[in-house]
Amino acid sequence: MAALVLEYSAVFMSDKNVTEVVLADAKGIARAARILEAGGLVAVPTETVYGLAARADSAEAVAKIYAAKGRPDFNPLIVHVRDAKQAETFAEISDSARDLMAQHWPGPITLVLPLRRDKSLTRAVSAGLPTIALRAPSHPVMRTLLEAVDFPLAAPSANRSGFISPTSPDHVLASLDGRIDAVLDGGMSDRGVESTIVAVRADGAIEELRPGPISIAGASAVNSNAIEGPGQLASHYAPGKPVRLNATNAARDDFMIGFGDIAGDCTLSSAGDLNEAAARLYDCLHQGAASDKPCIAIAPVPEEGIGRAIIDRLRRAAAPTN
Ligand code: TXA
Ligand code: MG
Repeated sequence: MAALVLEYSAVFMSDKNVTEVVLADAKGIARAARILEAGGLVAVPTETVYGLAARADSAEAVAKIYAAKGRPDFNPLIVHVRDAKQAETFAEISDSARDLMAQHWPGPITLVLPLRRDKSLTRAVSAGLPTIALRAPSHPVMRTLLEAVDFPLAAPSANRSGFISPTSPDHVLASLDGRIDAVLDGGMSDRGVESTIVAVRADGAIEELRPGPISIAGASAVNSNAIEGPGQLASHYAPGKPVRLNATNAARDDFMIGFGDIAGDCTLSSAGDLNEAAARLYDCLHQGAASDKPCIAIAPVPEEGIGRAIIDRLRRAAAPTN
């Protein structure tokens, strides 16, 4: 541990308030791996949103995630693994969990599973819960990075707690510049909303804790306000100004986010394509947050397929922040 801290200081402390942006080529991925090995924080591209990664086997590294995000420490993190084999090291995998992994990994689905008491994961990642959230991402940069290091990566979305999630390096810098060591630039995230989260219970029952790009037939949707994490809290993804949903036209003060026939200052998908809308959702919200207009209005979006995830995020973006 002492060696690790020393190395971190030598390499990074001199540039404490500088966040490097590193292109995600072979050299950049190797650089990111070195920073992570030394216990640093790197924002990494995934197919859903950018994650704020740290080594999941280090309490010090994971503590930095909570500090940089201003995230309450009772809210557990998702741990990113290469595949089902690596997942097995950390969780009890039932038959139904194994089936879900075989069908959907690598990809945008996170499984909440019983935690194995394995010394190599720090307790902070699961915030002391008896379960652990695991995901094998499909983004080629993340997959290469996970192969390049010999530990899994804890990574929540790379934004200040409660703020809009990032789908580009610029979005990450909008809220974390100077607070993290680096951003690995892998372009825009193409799915655009966070992974589906399902809990696989001991009796095989599957509960959907957060809607996302993948819908699991037969999963029971859990009353999301009863769930422990901020991603499930009423106000989240907040752009810092009032948000009006189901708007069919813009008032003078509105930054309009359009969909289908309703055009906006930013349009989610003029063709009415829900996958395109998901991919553009957070970019439009970031644009709305940065605009001079004091309010954001959003056209109706159908609540079907990935539209369920879009509506879930929009309701939380529109909820009062207290
Ligand atoms: O697509 C994604 O899932 C992205 C990328 C980076 O992988 N990550 C992400 O992480 O959205 P985050 O921290 O923003 O959301 C993780 C959610 C939180 O709502 C947290 O409460 C929940 O996962 N979670 C984590 N561990 C859990 C557990 N053991 N039981 C229930 N919920 C859990
Ligand atoms: Mg988040």
